[in-house]
Amino acid sequence: MKKNILEALKKNKDAFISGEELSKKIGVTRTAVWKHIKQLKEEGYEIESVSRKGYRLTKEPDTLDADVLEIELASKNIGSKIYHFESIDSTNNMAKKMASEGAAEGTIIIAEEQTGGRGRLGRTWVSPKGTGIWMSIILRPNIAPTEAAKITQITAAAVASGLRKIIGEDVGIKWPNDIIIHRKKVCGILTELSAELNSVNYIVVGIGINVNMDTKDFPEEVRRIATSIKACVGRTVSRKNIVKEILHSFEELYSDFTYNKNIKKSIEICKKYSVTLGKEVKIKNKEKEVVAKAIDLTEDGQLLIKNQSGVIEKVFSGEVSV
Ligand code: BTN
Repeated sequence: MKKNILEALKKNKDAFISGEELSKKIGVTRTAVWKHIKQLKEEGYEIESVSRKGYRLTKEPDTLDADVLEIELASKNIGSKIYHFESIDSTNNMAKKMASEGAAEGTIIIAEEQTGGRGRLGRTWVSPKGTGIWMSIILRPNIAPTEAAKITQITAAAVASGLRKIIGEDVGIKWPNDIIIHRKKVCGILTELSAELNSVNYIVVGIGINVNMDTKDFPEEVRRIATSIKACVGRTVSRKNIVKEILHSFEELYSDFTYNKNIKKSIEICKKYSVTLGKEVKIKNKEKEVVAKAIDLTEDGQLLIKNQSGVIEKVFSGEVSV
């Protein structure tokens, strides 16, 4: 019901809408309308109320409120259902739980704070309250488990394109899953899979973006390699606008992949914004560490490298330093 009131106020943004009109439109009493308006004000919405004129929305807070995001995204698939938590251990954990209980493709879990945020290779992901975007998307693509790496590339392409639209900065992609600005990491992607031998049950793709964090918000040991969007552009940036841009790009690229079996556009974006290709890189994985030249990205989302003996190899995963 609060969502309906907010939707009506947002549609009518510069004009007044009377309590009576709202109550008729939504089918509730005027007292109920008043209670929801009060609640919206407590959540940070600025709503002017003038007797005999009604209510007018004048300012919205930068929240990641599920109702607001659902209204503004108006998406049929990615983000058609959003769950917003004040505090949670990890949005990926919650997304996996919901997916295993049948949550639909496109469901999004987003949190203001994670108390047990997880990164790749068993690392922790620092996720302080209200300063970043900690979110996970549940996907149910009809693909083989071996294709899961493509989802990471689609996500990296969507995040880089979305961020570029908002901040117009030099946003780069470090294969396979890091988004880089000014040579430091602002975002990481954690793709997790539940699968049978030949088919995927679900994929959870977790996206962590350091948006409005100050240096002091990062543990000392990561300050050298991590940064925030605020630190790069010198101003606070709306988290809501970033989420919207990224999810719009994701929807476009992901549907091209699932409906048209086409990943070309995502791979092109990953190549165009790559900070890895053409460089001498060090790749570390469980088995070994190699120094090689990164020469291309395959349509399967693998990195092609030329090793020091001139042999071309495919790399499936690993940690890259440029
Ligand atoms: C990495 O670069 O190591 C990946 C980091 C992924 C962090 C995000 S934040 C939202 C989601 N929930 C988690 O626990 N992790 C991912």
